[in-house]
Amino acid sequence: RGFMLDVSRHFFGIHDVKRILDLMALYKLNRLHIHLSDDQGWRIEIPGLPNLTDYAGGSQVGGKGGGYYSVEEYAELVRYAQERFITIVPEIDVPGHTNAALASYPELNCGGVAPELFTGTAVGFSSLCTTKEVTYEFLETVVREIAALTPGPFFHVGGDEVERLTPEEYNAFMERMEGLVRSHGKRMVGWDEVALAELGAGSLVQLWRPLWPAEGAPEPDSAAAEAAAELEAGVMRVIASGGSVILSPADRLYLDMKYDRTTPIGLTWAGLADVRTSYDWAVMDLFGKLPEEAIAGVEAPLWSETLGSISDIEYMAFPRLPGIAELGWSQEFRRSWEDYRLRLGAQAPRWTALGINFYRSPQVPWQEGWQDTP
Ligand code: ACM
Repeated sequence: RGFMLDVSRHFFGIHDVKRILDLMALYKLNRLHIHLSDDQGWRIEIPGLPNLTDYAGGSQVGGKGGGYYSVEEYAELVRYAQERFITIVPEIDVPGHTNAALASYPELNCGGVAPELFTGTAVGFSSLCTTKEVTYEFLETVVREIAALTPGPFFHVGGDEVERLTPEEYNAFMERMEGLVRSHGKRMVGWDEVALAELGAGSLVQLWRPLWPAEGAPEPDSAAAEAAAELEAGVMRVIASGGSVILSPADRLYLDMKYDRTTPIGLTWAGLADVRTSYDWAVMDLFGKLPEEAIAGVEAPLWSETLGSISDIEYMAFPRLPGIAELGWSQEFRRSWEDYRLRLGAQAPRWTALGINFYRSPQVPWQEGWQDTP
């Protein structure tokens, strides 16, 4: 039962992350995945690699600001999470989404020249140089230092949206990365693209795109159908090796998608996700071809290209995040939208008392004062 926070596109300090951990604990969410690096910024101190934070810690979308967690601050977050029975899942996104690292250390670039810091929102343009040994020495240091600070069993390596490598280069890189993560005692987690590589046993694949077209959707063209079949085969291979999947379908669970056309922040590339859309679906309707025991859980990512404050985060996460907790907790036959919307509406006085900046969706009958829960 996870939540992901992108602290790279915009940085959120430990005070904000502790607030998020408190709100997660209210609804018994138990994994906080922190997206610690991307093109726009590097957010965790790595002893021996000071440029990452001294230089690429200080940028974010739009240019100004940024920040990073010192080793001590990260350890403090891990402890704070543990006290609330939440496991931190750190993500260092590689080999793409790496402009911040490439800008910090020129030798990580195939041409040996560092690019400028990046403060826009494009994706897909960056990659570590996968044919240079120095890249793997860099990654060894990064994984070793973060793994040593992270008691949980997971290390997320990203792996998404890489446009600068051939499939062969990508797969060879991921296979090496998986071994590196395992050598530091962690299970590798990656976005669904990683399933195309021959991973070691027991990895976790986070599905963010549909594996199968929704009922009634138009037939995909032949290239899309072939790519989907290849991804499905990869996911099944991971499962056969004892691995698992995490479900994060972007059109329902990406909390940075706008609720409707009038939502002032957020994005729409995966569609609009109102409160009902994010809650009212059955896992086995969308993912029924997966063996149930291979599903590790659901996770709701919140990407921060358009979110600059904790108040923005709360607005996108509430009221959808409690619904994701319930998806994870409840047997399907116990869930119904008509019942859920009443129970959700009864949370409003509590959220008001806690000062949560929640979206008052017209789909929900919000209670104004304290009453008995229906
Ligand atoms: C992703 O949304 N690129 C994982």
